[in-house]
Amino acid sequence: MRSPFDDAELYDWEYRRRRADVQFYRTLADERGGPILDIGCGTGRLLLPLLRDGHTLVGVDRAPAMLARAAARLKRLPAAHRRRALLLRADLRALPFRSRRSRRPRFALALAAFHTIQHCETNADLLRFFRGAAAALIPGGWLAFDTFAPEPRFLARRGPSGRTRFRDPRTGRPTIYTESHRIVPGPDGPNGPVLAMTFHYQPVDARDRPRGRARNVSLRHRLLQPTEIQSLLRQAGLALIASWGGFDGRPLTTSDDQTEQHIYLAAKGRR
Ligand SMILES: C[S@@+](CC[C@H](N)C(=O)[O-])C[C@H]1O[C@@H](n2cnc3c(N)ncnc32)[C@H](O)[C@@H]1O
Repeated sequence: MRSPFDDAELYDWEYRRRRADVQFYRTLADERGGPILDIGCGTGRLLLPLLRDGHTLVGVDRAPAMLARAAARLKRLPAAHRRRALLLRADLRALPFRSRRSRRPRFALALAAFHTIQHCETNADLLRFFRGAAAALIPGGWLAFDTFAPEPRFLARRGPSGRTRFRDPRTGRPTIYTESHRIVPGPDGPNGPVLAMTFHYQPVDARDRPRGRARNVSLRHRLLQPTEIQSLLRQAGLALIASWGGFDGRPLTTSDDQTEQHIYLAAKGRR
């Protein structure tokens, strides 16, 4: 099945109104300064505004289509902006900043926005990610990331939901979108549950009758509790500074059913 990161144009269109997280990370970046490592930078949804704010950035992602779109967007910027950005194709579980032969780590801030760490399905992969991010930071540098923590009402839904009619930006065809999901044991077993989501795209005619082939897109997210995150951070030499239950800055209280976004800020300890 396809991945949402195969169609970067549709990705940008679907998340064009997701602005609160961008604003949140911009504020954090202004507070901490750069250089900034944007891990799972995708199409540059965050990288470009940060670049325009004057920061220096390295963006890392493994999806060719997402990186190609980020590169195309960079190309359209003035040379003075472009010179402060570098895109790298790499896996977030093996970030290329650890080797003793490579130059010293130089990032004051590392970001992994929009649930990116949840692509690591096992504790071992999560630890590889956190250790790699810590290795890329200067002492005292910050790592900020967010996770999707679906509310029980969302998890309890059975069958397709979220029906939305839209015009596919690439094909121009009217299309009906629905989403369905279930929780499955991940590679770590029942203690590492994974939210397996399927996005269904059905091209339709003017009367919403199916026309042409439907497309299914699969997305899997490891579900993570704040206590698990804290333990993994500690093992990677990172200390939790703050956590929030939304991009409006509300505190993280796990008893709150309305909390869907968990945001974490950790610092690399001085050794
Ligand atoms: C939800 S998108 C977020 C993109 C961007 N940070 C944003 O906020 O729009 C998750 C990104 O993580 C990337 N990704 C997933 N697994 C990865 C891996 N193992 N290594 C590197 N990138 C990965 C995907 O290609 C995708 O671009």
